[in-house]
Amino acid sequence: MIIAVDGPTASGKGTISKQLARHFALPFLDTGLLYRAVGWTLSEQGGDADNAADALAACDFAGSLLDNPDLRSEVIGGLASRVSVHPQVRQALDKRQKDFAYQPGGAVLDGRDIGTVIAPDADVKIFVTASAEARAVRRYEEMRQRGEQVNFDDILADILARDERDRNRATAPLKPAEDADLLDTTDLTIDAAIQQAIALVNAKTSGRRDKDPA
Ligand code: DC
Repeated sequence: MIIAVDGPTASGKGTISKQLARHFALPFLDTGLLYRAVGWTLSEQGGDADNAADALAACDFAGSLLDNPDLRSEVIGGLASRVSVHPQVRQALDKRQKDFAYQPGGAVLDGRDIGTVIAPDADVKIFVTASAEARAVRRYEEMRQRGEQVNFDDILADILARDERDRNRATAPLKPAEDADLLDTTDLTIDAAIQQAIALVNAKTSGRRDKDPA
């Protein structure tokens, strides 16, 4: 079973997909980390994120980089969003994601284009949303808990800028697949969101079993 989870930054899709992977005993790939690894490598190489050749040169990173906690910073998230605009970068990361999605037994992947580009025939597609304000509050709390100096308005502005870039890029923009189920987490606790996601998967897969010939 392939479960595709897409959505904007800080929507809760990461936590939801990790818990789906655990619940259904499936391997999990956070595809945002691949773009973050490109952003991190580019900054080490002193490249320009808006230059396609520089961004492509940064796609050749060691797998062990994905374990580097520095990838999760806001600065690297912003660079990841900028390098992800280049079709050459998306192409360079395409096979790795498709191989993961189509491994025997299936997988859970989260990102922006999993249900539309990477695994268009996924068994379950969930598009996780939340208002920009709710997402900014979550990001603000996370960063404060990590002891970082934060300004709410800056975080909200950053989220809106990333949304704008991720939604309006020409290649594989962030958008729900036509057959995706929407999960709006604005007014949900994370536990409630996880339970709704599990229920969506169960509803999709039991429907499929009902339709299977005996
Ligand atoms: O999910 P995230 O915040 O770690 O993703 C960082 C950036 O990477 C995001 O702003 C856009 C890009 N990205 C993408 O274009 N496609 C994906 N499947 C995952 C992430």
